[in-house]
Amino acid sequence: MAGVWLQTMKHVEVMLVGSANMDLVVRATRFPLPGETLQGSGFQRFPGGKGANQATAAGKLGANVGILTKLGADPFGDELVASLSSAGVLTDWVLRDPAVSTGVALITVDDAGQNTIVVSPGTNALLVPSEVETAFRELSAKVVLAQLEIPLETVIAASKLGSDAIFILNPAPARHLPDDLLATVDYLTPNETEAEELTAILPSDDASCLACARILFDKGVKNVLFTLGARGSFLATTKYGRHFPTIPVKPIDTTGAGDAFNGAFAHFLASGEDIERAIHLANITGALSTTRAGAQASMPSLIEVMAVAD
Ligand code: RIB
Repeated sequence: MAGVWLQTMKHVEVMLVGSANMDLVVRATRFPLPGETLQGSGFQRFPGGKGANQATAAGKLGANVGILTKLGADPFGDELVASLSSAGVLTDWVLRDPAVSTGVALITVDDAGQNTIVVSPGTNALLVPSEVETAFRELSAKVVLAQLEIPLETVIAASKLGSDAIFILNPAPARHLPDDLLATVDYLTPNETEAEELTAILPSDDASCLACARILFDKGVKNVLFTLGARGSFLATTKYGRHFPTIPVKPIDTTGAGDAFNGAFAHFLASGEDIERAIHLANITGALSTTRAGAQASMPSLIEVMAVAD
């Protein structure tokens, strides 16, 4: 009898295509001016990177989540794999390149919990479209979530391959995007800076959020979900706009709050919550993440989120 070749397909609720970094963090009372040397304190190292943070947020909430990312074959890479695994993220699609270092982010956090971040992408810059194609040959996903710390062609490949999936694009860090990529996006999740970069309008209130969204709808984006920090978030669909306030918290470190929101939104959407409930729970996840230090280290559990949700 002729041999039968069976391809083993894996199904995940949420598939991340994105970056992973080791975050090197110091605290300072304020940010330095150009040319100024400031005395800081409390150096810490935390697993980070927008893609890995979003995967971790979803994983800690109980999602069936995987990540396609590229790390160096170095100790930072090992720590990042361990952090993802301990959050329940499937690491089957974590690639390692022995020739290049894992990405790092140099982060300063001030007394108000705000941050400045400089990223050296390392292996994140080497994640290529063919690696997305290979991964998606053996996996299906309900939601595909990507950001912009990997090459743009790779994000475009992810947007095409998850064609049966809901495609969420978190356009971070801010940059111009081609219309043909925007036309594939089911949910675009910019913060204020990213929305302004894409539309030249700062979304400072409901009317300006809607004005931004109209520009993005004209380019084919289906829904825009603005993340507005302590003001919560704003959903614009082609039919209506709605502001979602968030819970009040005393932030100590806002690093990764947008990632917490995105990972949680992807998870709750994939697990069948209605859109408004998914946004409410994502707001809470983002807010709670600011009450602890670090990116992946600060992501709350499902129990913590549900304890606050009404
Ligand atoms: O969004 C926060 C993340 O941005 C940090 O973890 C850092 O690694 C950069 O990617």
